[in-house]
Amino acid sequence: MPGAPVAAAVLGDVAQRVKALAEMGRSVGLGTILVGDDPASAGYIRMKQAKAVDLSIHSSHTQLPGHAAQVDLVAAIRAMNDDPRVDAMLVQHPVPAGIDYEAALSEMDPNKDVDGLHPFNMGRLALSMPGPVPCTPAGIEALLAHYQIPVAGRHVVILGRGTTLGRPLALLLSQKRPTANAAVTVVHSGIPSWDDYTRQADIVIAAAGVPGILRPEHVRPGAVVVGGGVRYEGRRLLPDVDESVAEVAGWITPRVGGVGPTTVAMLFRNTVVAAERRAPASKSGGATAGESG
Ligand SMILES: NC(=O)c1ccc[n+]([C@@H]2O[C@H](COP(=O)([O-])OP(=O)(O)OC[C@H]3O[C@@H](n4cnc5c(N)ncnc54)[C@H](OP(=O)(O)O)[C@@H]3O)[C@@H](O)[C@H]2O)c1
Repeated sequence: MPGAPVAAAVLGDVAQRVKALAEMGRSVGLGTILVGDDPASAGYIRMKQAKAVDLSIHSSHTQLPGHAAQVDLVAAIRAMNDDPRVDAMLVQHPVPAGIDYEAALSEMDPNKDVDGLHPFNMGRLALSMPGPVPCTPAGIEALLAHYQIPVAGRHVVILGRGTTLGRPLALLLSQKRPTANAAVTVVHSGIPSWDDYTRQADIVIAAAGVPGILRPEHVRPGAVVVGGGVRYEGRRLLPDVDESVAEVAGWITPRVGGVGPTTVAMLFRNTVVAAERRAPASKSGGATAGESG
């Protein structure tokens, strides 16, 4: 089922909240940093900038060369920490070899961390405290809720324990909330027979970034399948979920236009929430991302 209706609802709310801030004389700003010239990453940045324009959100961008050193990235992050026009920022992932992404994230002002990946915010997530939730996990929870896929009380198996997707998603879906509250199992490359687990799952979420890794024989017939992991070869997007999985799944996200649009929507929701935190608007639907569903 497509992510577009979920994204449209979230972005409609964001637009209202940006307008409310504007009425108080506050603009909303998103800062982006890109290291190198990977075409897929550059495309993502352009798309986020275009969406920011649509939402009347100011965008600031810092482009660093592919040979930039860790200190250059840290300097760019610190400049955005100090820039009052930037309410929220991100470093586009993946970064070139030689850059320590997690170490760089630790330099970010946690209140401007739009991806919710700063250790402070991951700690908030682990403790079920309000805060910015990583965008793809938040988008997946919203997608399942939108299509009324029961998660509470179900067994969710996540293939992958990466920083941006598998690990925060496991934390999110095990929280005690109506749209989460699942029994969550995380499998990874240290579990050679990971399919023993995915075959038992009510919901399988692919988060490995290995094209075609999830095949029909890895899924219980009728199970819910969510494709989060993708790899780019040039501009070609290669999902983790093989297209033949659709023949056995009871419900499945489309290979393109499923999780992706919800991720972008959550990015802008986290941006406006960060701006509201700095200058509270008279809000109507003022949940933080941590309270989202
Ligand atoms: N759709 C979106 O909008 C969106 C947004 C963000 C991320 N993503 C995608 O989500 C994926 C995961 O992102 P991430 O940053 O969390 O990735 P990551 O850090 O690279 O983690 C990948 C995970 O997959 C596991 N894995 C890799 N190969 C495997 C194999 N053959 N068998 C079993 N497990 C295997 C790894 O295991 P080990 O831990 O043992 O190495 C690791 O836990 C990527 O494809 C990324 O592009 C999508």
